[in-house]
Amino acid sequence: MSEKKRIVSGMRPTGALHLGNLHGALANWINMQDDYDCFFFIADWHALTSDYEDPGNIARFTENMMIDWLGAGLDPEKSTLFVQSAVVSHAELFLLLSMITPVPWLERNPTYKEQIEALDNKDLSTFGFLGYPVLQAADIIIYRANGVPVGIDQAPHIELTREIARRFNHLYGHVFPEPETILTETSKILGTDRRKMSKSYNNAIYLSDPPEEIRKKTAQMITDPQRVRKSDPGDPDVCNVFTFHRFYSPAVEREEINAACRKAAIGCVDCKKKMAERLVGYLAPIRERIGHLRQDTNLVRDIIDRGNRRAAEEAAITMQRVRDAVKI
Ligand code: TRP
Ligand code: SF4
Repeated sequence: MSEKKRIVSGMRPTGALHLGNLHGALANWINMQDDYDCFFFIADWHALTSDYEDPGNIARFTENMMIDWLGAGLDPEKSTLFVQSAVVSHAELFLLLSMITPVPWLERNPTYKEQIEALDNKDLSTFGFLGYPVLQAADIIIYRANGVPVGIDQAPHIELTREIARRFNHLYGHVFPEPETILTETSKILGTDRRKMSKSYNNAIYLSDPPEEIRKKTAQMITDPQRVRKSDPGDPDVCNVFTFHRFYSPAVEREEINAACRKAAIGCVDCKKKMAERLVGYLAPIRERIGHLRQDTNLVRDIIDRGNRRAAEEAAITMQRVRDAVKI
């Protein structure tokens, strides 16, 4: 048995991964692979809670998301990478947990209220959507996780998970550790329009974007809004393009640009071109891996199958204890 602490986290398959995802959740997961016993999964059932009317993309997005994960550096030799719906015992545990979860705990959940208002084009007055955090709790505790790396937006769900685990243990005897929230720093990369990078804002640069696309998107980026003419000095500290340079350009080049911008010795067009080439270079190995994996669907299926089996074995151990505890 490994001495490492176990962590579990998931992502809904909502489409291609972008730089915001990479420098947020994903980079964090990749870094944790050596120090933790990691279970990372694609939450396709959770995608269904809001997209039940139109589930046609979920399976394709799931496979693409796994390809993006692998391309970015999640390693199936180190971590268990799997798909939620392939481990059906999540649903069994979800059912048992739903018996003991008071409805007011769910109605009080801040994300529940926010989402219902935010997604007013969808009818989310379903049992499944209310129960979203109960399924999430099942996802986590079915692996007897010690920790859950998530962004701050998910913190209430992990708190609820702890409460549900505690209630189960109290009613039936100790089965589940109470998992800690391991807060992921949010990505400092903004979208090309300086808002949060998001698919729905149409301001994202994707891991799989080809170089021409990256150059085009970079050319449209908003820079220091005060810098109107090329002869005006700029302020890199308020410029989103410069933030990208911080991520992708070597220190020497970055400092040259920093100084040149402040004395109007470089124009934004050139500055963006330099950044775009650095970003293209940074993404090149990721894009290449993604390209290979897209060609080799058998390999991807194989990786997913192995992850699913490994996850199912671990879930089965827990479920035996659960059934013993509940006596059913
Ligand atoms: N709710 C999470 C999100 O939207 C996804 C998720 C589902 C998850 N199950 C999980 C995250 C279990 C961590 C652990 O981002
Ligand atoms: Fe931003 Fe570069 Fe233009 Fe300066 S030169 S404002 S850092 S894009």
